[in-house]
Amino acid sequence: MHGRKDARRKSSRRIRDFVMLQGCFAAVFLLLMVTGSIGIVEAIAAMLAAGAVSAAYYVGSSAVSPPDVGSEMAVASLPAGPAASVVPVKALPLPAFEIDLDQRIIAYNAAAEDILRLDGRIKPRASTVIRSPALLSAIDEAIQVPAETPATVEVDAGPDETWRAYVTRPVRADRILIVLEDLTPLRRAARSRSDFIANASHELRTPLTALSGFIETMRGPARDDPESWGRFLDIMAIEAERMSRLIADLLSLSRIESSEQVAPRDRVNLRDVLKAGASALEGFAEKKDMRLDVSIPEDACPVIGSYDELIQVVENLVSNAIKYSPPGGTVRVSAGRAPSAQDARTRSGQAWPDGERMTLLQTVARVGVGVGIGDAAVWVRVEDEGPGIEREHLPRLGERFYRTDQSRGGKITGTGLGLAIVKHIMAHHRGGMAVETRMGKGTAFAVWLPAAPAKADA
Ligand SMILES: Nc1ncnc2c1ncn2[C@@H]1O[C@H](COP(=O)(O)OP(=O)(O)OP(=O)(O)O)[C@@H](O)[C@H]1O
Ligand SMILES: [Mg+2]
Repeated sequence: MHGRKDARRKSSRRIRDFVMLQGCFAAVFLLLMVTGSIGIVEAIAAMLAAGAVSAAYYVGSSAVSPPDVGSEMAVASLPAGPAASVVPVKALPLPAFEIDLDQRIIAYNAAAEDILRLDGRIKPRASTVIRSPALLSAIDEAIQVPAETPATVEVDAGPDETWRAYVTRPVRADRILIVLEDLTPLRRAARSRSDFIANASHELRTPLTALSGFIETMRGPARDDPESWGRFLDIMAIEAERMSRLIADLLSLSRIESSEQVAPRDRVNLRDVLKAGASALEGFAEKKDMRLDVSIPEDACPVIGSYDELIQVVENLVSNAIKYSPPGGTVRVSAGRAPSAQDARTRSGQAWPDGERMTLLQTVARVGVGVGIGDAAVWVRVEDEGPGIEREHLPRLGERFYRTDQSRGGKITGTGLGLAIVKHIMAHHRGGMAVETRMGKGTAFAVWLPAAPAKADA
C-alpha cells in the first residue's frame, strides 16, 4: 500500500518538474520575441527544442530513479522470484533461512525447519524462534547496514552444542539470508583429542612415577637392605607391565582407527574366534575360581572380518566379565546367527526383561556394499554374574579411558581402553554393540556384525 502511494507521489513530482521547466523556457522565448530580439519562427523552433530537452529529462529520470532501499517500493522494483531471494534456500545443503525486513522468517529449508522447530508456522517472528541474543543483534545490524560479506556469529545452543551463523544481506536486497553450520562435531573432536592426550600422559606418568620412586629408594634409604629389594622389584615389574600393556592398547587403538576406512576382507569363522578367545582366558578364570561356559554355535558363522581384531573383541569382553565379577561365578559366552542386524541386537542384547539397556554402537549401512542393516548378522553375548553397572555410566562405556567410579576407586586395575578398542573394532566391521545390566546380578555385553554372504566352503 505504502509503496504504491510513494510511486504515485514520485511520478507527480516529475510531471511538475517537467511542466515548470517547459514553462520557464516558454516565458524566456516569449519575452525575447516581444522585445523583438528573435522572430516568431525562431521562438517556436526554440520552444520545440526546449520541449524535447525537458521530455528527455522526464523519460531519463524515470529510468535512473534508484530504488529506495528498505522501502517496499524497493521490494516491488526488485525482480521477483529467485533474483529477489539471495540464494534459493531450499538448494543449500546446510540449514538456511531468510528473514524479511520486518524480522519475519519467510523462507527456510528442511534442515532449518528442524533446528528452529518451525513446525510449518507461517512467517513467525525471528525473535520468537531464535533465542541467541548475538544472532538477533547480528540480524538487526544486517537490517540497518546491508553488507555483501557475511557476518559470522557463534551460537551456543546447549552445554555441548555450538553453531556458527552466517548472516548476509546483499545491498538492495529486501531479505537477510542466514546459513547455519554445526560446529559441535569439530569442537567435540578437538576436546576428545586433548582429553585423550591428557589421559594418556597421566596414565603413563603414574607407573613411571612409581618406578622412579622405587629406584630412588633402592639407591638411597634401602641401599643396604637387599632383603627389601625383592618386594620392590615385584612392584616395579607390575608397574612396568602396566605401562607396556597401556602402550600396546594405545597402539592397537591407533592401528584400528587408522584402518577404519579400509573394510576388512578376510573370511573368518566366528566359531574359531570364540574357541581361541575363550581358551586364552581359561587360565585367568581358573585363577579366580570361575567357570567359563562357552556355547559355540553348531552352524558355521562366517563373517568378513579381521581374525586378530575379532579375537581382541572376545578377549576384552571375557576378561572384563572375569575381572569385574566376584570369584566363584560363571561367565557365559553365546553366539548365533540372525536374519538381520536388528534381530541380532535383540537376541544378543535383550535377554533380561528387568535389565537396563543401552546401544553403544549402532549398525550403519554401507552404501554400495552388499551388506547392510537388513542382511543376516552374527552375534556374540558375554554375560557375567558381577555387580552390574549403574545406569548413568552406560552411555559413556566405550569412551577412551572411561572407567566407572567403582572400578576407579577399587583395586581392579585397568586403563579404560578395552571397551573403546571393542567399539572401534565393531565400527570397523560395520557392526554394533550394546550393554545390558542388572544391579547386583550381572552385566552382558553384546556385539553383532554382518554375516558373510553364503559360500560353499563356509
Ligand atoms: N563386565 C563388567 N562388569 C562391570 N563393569 C564393567 C564390566 N565391563 C566393563 N566394566 C566397566 O567399564 C569400564 C571400562 O572397561 P574397559 O574394558 O574399557 O576398561 P578397563 O577394564 O578398566 O581397562 P582395560 O580393559 O583397558 O585394561 C571398566 O573400568 C568397568 O568400570
Ligand atoms: Mg577391560
